[in-house]
Amino acid sequence: MAKSSSRYVCQDCGGLHPKWVGKCEACGAWNTLVEEVVEAAAPKGMKPGGGRRLSFVELDGKTADTPRRVTGMGEFDRVLGGGLVAGSATLIGGDPGIGKSTVLLQAVAGLSGGSRCAYVSGEEAIDQVRMRARRLGVAGATVGLAAATNVRDIVASLEAADGPDVVVIDSIQTMYVDALDSAPGTVAQVRASAQELIRVAKRRGIALLLVGHVTKEGTIAGPRVLEHMVDTVLYFEGERGHQFRILRGVKNRFGPTDEIGVFEMTERGLVEVGNPSALFLSDRQDDVSGACVFAGMEGTRPVLVEIQALVAPSPFGTPRRAVVGWDSNRLAMVTAVLEARCGVSLAGNDVFLNVAGGLRVSEPAADLAVAAALVSSLTGVPVPKGSVVFGEIGLAAEVRAVAHAETRLKEAAKLGFTKALLPASRRKGAGPAAGGMEQVAIARLPDLVELLHDPGDDTRFGRRAVSG
Ligand code: TYD
Ligand code: MG
Repeated sequence: MAKSSSRYVCQDCGGLHPKWVGKCEACGAWNTLVEEVVEAAAPKGMKPGGGRRLSFVELDGKTADTPRRVTGMGEFDRVLGGGLVAGSATLIGGDPGIGKSTVLLQAVAGLSGGSRCAYVSGEEAIDQVRMRARRLGVAGATVGLAAATNVRDIVASLEAADGPDVVVIDSIQTMYVDALDSAPGTVAQVRASAQELIRVAKRRGIALLLVGHVTKEGTIAGPRVLEHMVDTVLYFEGERGHQFRILRGVKNRFGPTDEIGVFEMTERGLVEVGNPSALFLSDRQDDVSGACVFAGMEGTRPVLVEIQALVAPSPFGTPRRAVVGWDSNRLAMVTAVLEARCGVSLAGNDVFLNVAGGLRVSEPAADLAVAAALVSSLTGVPVPKGSVVFGEIGLAAEVRAVAHAETRLKEAAKLGFTKALLPASRRKGAGPAAGGMEQVAIARLPDLVELLHDPGDDTRFGRRAVSG
């Protein structure tokens, strides 16, 4: 007879433990283990024979183009790679209150003209969703609305002959499979619910949109396996205090993963932002020290953002290094190169770095802009007026070429910038620069430091004699 036994599953990372412990050995989280009963079936080996021979086919063959359903929200469709794919599962994660329910309600309303859409809410009552729809001005859209949490009911509705083509499940953490004992939101339930829903979506060619909660650390709550199960993972991000929201693709089996969609949260829902650079630079002041404009790329799109630095004498023995919107390891590297190779002394100073507007920059191409902001803050000399900066910094203080220099320059010219501090070396095959920008080639980081050096004030600079 099969014997049942217990195992303990971490609710943060999905790690398995044979015994209960206070701290998950896999991810280090405290108090996250929950008991799960497993019916132990006697392990069976595979008997030889009985299999069916697979018929292998050529790599190149006729396949139908994946039809996509376009929501009409250009930014949303772009991140998806051109619209929703039938029979695909998309997971959308993000902090509470960031606008996940809002963006999905708007998306299904946009789709409702050409597809049968359904919105299943496990978090809010029908009235709440209706109220939001009215606020968004989409109450007239033909979207089937239901408040449900039992996956069996939802699957039955999706299987029906007149079932929907597109369905939103808000959120996967509230759903439960009644065959399991564990509570909704536990790893076992999240995994089982997602599995059932994805299975019926694949079978019926339904585009499934799942809302996923995120943990304190910002990853989608529950098992990481959820990210493996779905075709597309999007994160909806933004700073609470800012109006704009960024939809970022981190996994996409049907499109690119480096695209972002930019929205602004308004009184009447999310509005697409066609020109993010203009938005990110809207509060910028020209001619202040410690700030510079980085000409970045997000996917195929150039995005200009302001990088701000503040270098100030520290009252503490161990100076602070605080970063918002950039990688702190990367900052440590840039400061180390400034110290060791350029004679700029940052020791004894607190360093604060901020990407204005709440965008998160992950490109190494921002190195040079970060260095410019840091040095400018230290010397009090503003970065040349009307200029943008980009370039990657190597450990030997060389400034390396980055991709898409022309696209960056064009965007900067379009927004009224006239000058660019950029790597001296260009990628092979790069054409002549566009937009009539004045280009200041920076071969090595000390050249930039020299450029932002106040000749009248050597003391503030903290310069040490340095070779090369
Ligand atoms: P919501 O979509 O409920 O967030 P989530 O589902 O990610 O938890 O968004 C809620 C927030 O958005 C709430 O703080 C109010 C704000 N909001 C607006 O500013 N304008 C609007 O039109 C709507 C619908 C919401
Ligand atoms: Mg919600």
